[in-house]
Amino acid sequence: MSAPLLDTLRRPLRDLRISVTDRCNFRCTYCMPRAVFGPDYAFLDRKELLTFEEIARVTRTFRALGVEKVRLTGGEPTLRRELDKLMALLAPIPGLDLTLTTNGSTLEGLAAGFATAGLKRVTVSLDSLDDAVFAKLNDVAFPVARVLAGIDAAAAAGLRPVKVNCVVKRSVNLAGVLDLARHFRGSGHILRFIEFMDVGTTNGWRMDEVVPSRELSATIGAAWPIEPVEANYPGEVAERWRYRDGAGEIGFISSVTQAFCRGCNRARLSADGRLFTCLFGVHGTDLRGPIRDGASDSELAATIASAWQTRTDRYSELRSAETVGLPKVEMSFIGG
Ligand code: GTP
Ligand code: 5AD
Ligand code: SF4
Ligand code: SF4
Repeated sequence: MSAPLLDTLRRPLRDLRISVTDRCNFRCTYCMPRAVFGPDYAFLDRKELLTFEEIARVTRTFRALGVEKVRLTGGEPTLRRELDKLMALLAPIPGLDLTLTTNGSTLEGLAAGFATAGLKRVTVSLDSLDDAVFAKLNDVAFPVARVLAGIDAAAAAGLRPVKVNCVVKRSVNLAGVLDLARHFRGSGHILRFIEFMDVGTTNGWRMDEVVPSRELSATIGAAWPIEPVEANYPGEVAERWRYRDGAGEIGFISSVTQAFCRGCNRARLSADGRLFTCLFGVHGTDLRGPIRDGASDSELAATIASAWQTRTDRYSELRSAETVGLPKVEMSFIGG
């Protein structure tokens, strides 16, 4: 392949996260607070969404520019009807690792079909094993047992290892992290704790609600000794650790206390076809317009390449009291 496409900080383009819908059946307080995402909230219209064929075309173009991993996200991606059809279009693209991030609510019924369609792995969000605490975060009283059933169904369908993401807010679910660790130790699934981030402008972020990964790793290591594991690939988001007693791996995503922008190789495509080069972006580069106006593959590739080559993003490294209130895209709009 030709030389990798580099941005202004010499970071290659490797990872594409595709949001297939901006809707979700949860109202996690740290992502889609109900007061903002209420009954009158204007979600995208169906015709504004990229079609599966349009997504596949954009993905092939990104692949030609060096992307090796595609993650389908949302909102909640499994709310998009017939998502397995999109997977079946993307899975055959050579050299592409196809993964999904989901809240797990629909996975019990869908996992087997996803695996058949060519999905390789899945990451499931689960913030607590306690129904009352989980309800405080998802704000729709969704039962923990159904997410656990979704995780089991994914593993049974071969979507392994299942990664489990837990966002920690000090006043809400910190007390339950050892229960989560105990539950997933030895299961073959990889639990990862994520620092609560100031994504979007509506989630009421406060630094005193952030639990630094160092604090969490100390808590967990005191219960079951852990040791660091080398990264799977350059620019990996999660810091990997393993239990010394052989009970498997656990991870920490420290986007607030130890920013990882230096190795950030991720592009994000919103459900309405805009390319964002940072989770904390404000403006996206419109790709849907050119696609629907008949742009050629090379014109589309040139638009993407130019957006990447001029990229300067490093929000998490620059985060300060001043940046928290700046305008930003909502996380539910471009996925995690
Ligand atoms: P795998 O290595 O394939 O598991 O992918 P991943 O580690 O990127 O996993 P995932 O997509 O589940 O990302 C985990 C979480 O990390 C996301 O939900 C976000 O909360 C956070 N995250 C991922 N990418 C970024 C990023 O580029 N910037 C920031 N600030 N946070 C990110
Ligand atoms: N901070 C950290 N992680 C978040 N996620 C959503 N909002 C936030 C936030 N404010 C995570 C979800 C899920 C992924 C899609 O993004 O928990 O794992
Ligand atoms: Fe939905 Fe995921 Fe956001 Fe929760 S974090 S509201 S499950 S998109
Ligand atoms: Fe990448 Fe932006 Fe996250 Fe930094 S803040 S790691 S540049 S997405």
